[in-house]
Amino acid sequence: MVDVQHYAMKSKYIIGNWKMHGDAVLAESLANAVSAYVAEHGSWAHIVLCPPFLWLERVAERVGDRAIAVGAQDCHIEKKGAYTGDISAEMIRSTGGAYVIVGHSERRVQHKEENATVAAKAKAALQAGLTPIICIGESLEERESERHMEVITHQLQGSIPKNVNLGKIILAYEPVWAIGTGKIPTIQDISAMHCHILNQVGKEVAVLYGGSVKAANAAEIMAIPTVSGVLVGGASLKAEEFCGIVTAAKEIVAV
Ligand code: PGA
Repeated sequence: MVDVQHYAMKSKYIIGNWKMHGDAVLAESLANAVSAYVAEHGSWAHIVLCPPFLWLERVAERVGDRAIAVGAQDCHIEKKGAYTGDISAEMIRSTGGAYVIVGHSERRVQHKEENATVAAKAKAALQAGLTPIICIGESLEERESERHMEVITHQLQGSIPKNVNLGKIILAYEPVWAIGTGKIPTIQDISAMHCHILNQVGKEVAVLYGGSVKAANAAEIMAIPTVSGVLVGGASLKAEEFCGIVTAAKEIVAV
């Protein structure tokens, strides 16, 4: 059984995954806007901005003193070596990053990343002092054939490094069919999946929801007690939308 009381009043994570969007001007203006929002309204959520690698340092410099953290969207499993084009977790750390997304479905599909690679990346992140945000999620075909629970069980078993301190990782449940499509599972379906995940990993793990989150639906999603926050793609590229999601989190925690 999931202990719902455990989650009440905990501040939520609002994590923006900018993916491969924007230029330096957009990165700076988004960082400045979120920073100004927090300066004006205060900070009650764990806000994390995940720009492309190139803008990481630039964004970190703008938000660092505003209780807003910065993360990357991927890292390599090794600390260093002949890996052309790759970035290590330590490099992310040295540019001011504190988080890294690993195992996003776009990387699992486009870069053929398997669960074992995702676990190795999460381990590398932890060794570098970063918090890994480990993504899991079923495809539309897996959902329609009602295999989503078993698929998630399998991903959890393979993508979380062994003997890890579970309090130091974050999970993000992102149904692949909900990413960038405007479709989201029902509140009951999100709740059922989060209970399924927590029953396996334990309540010390923060489990986020991701997939078509926007200001208009964020409150309803984050009101699910077992949803510890949201991983936001498209809506994180518009300052007003993203800040609207942060506002939604305040209303939940204040209830
Ligand atoms: P979306 O993306 O919010 O644009 O659906 C979420 C994600 O891929 O993390």
